Amino acid sequence: MTQGTANKRGFTLWFTGLSGAGKTTISEIVELELQRRLGGVEVLDGDVVRTNLSKGLGFSREDRDTNVLRIGFVANLLTRNGVGVIVSAISPFKEARDEVRDMIGEDFIEVFIDAPVEVCAERDVKGLYAKAFSGEIPQFTGVSDPYEAPVDPELHIHTDRESKGESAQRVIDYLEQAGYLA
Ligand code: PPS
Ligand code: MG
Repeated sequence: MTQGTANKRGFTLWFTGLSGAGKTTISEIVELELQRRLGGVEVLDGDVVRTNLSKGLGFSREDRDTNVLRIGFVANLLTRNGVGVIVSAISPFKEARDEVRDMIGEDFIEVFIDAPVEVCAERDVKGLYAKAFSGEIPQFTGVSDPYEAPVDPELHIHTDRESKGESAQRVIDYLEQAGYLA
């Protein structure tokens, strides 16, 4: 087994939320802190996974579910070997997220990175909302495609009401209280 993971309890922090809600931003801060505290952490970001493991997949419901289940499969392999994993994927459909939850079990931590779609569209960091509203990008989550919000996530983070540092700290506090950083 990889050095350093033998006696650690793995976990998957599953960041779900709209494009532009702050999944990647918060995950980067949490990643740095976990690197410091645990000496290692693995990140699976939808945008990145779609350039390799999920290359060629689009944004139909079927392709999104395939993407989410692939990410979940890898996250489970890592988690059960003592690795801390951060996933950032819109993962808009509850059924697929719940399937991953069932696969990973109690070490699955669903983190709802929440901001109203109006706020995400206002931020429009990548210019994708403008394209979604003009119809250039079809099936855009929150605009022309559904997002099923988590019903009972382990953590619910409102990125329009707290700073990214505060949000990241809440994630770390959760892990601490749940005994993953001991
Ligand atoms: S999913 O639904 O979980 O499979 O999506 P994910 O793998 O996280 O990929 C989302 C990123 O793809 C870009 N993008 C789109 N998002 C939503 N809907 C449509 N139609 C779309 N087309 C491209 C966008 O950059 C998403 O990244 P984030 O980080 O969420 O902004
Ligand atoms: Mg992102």
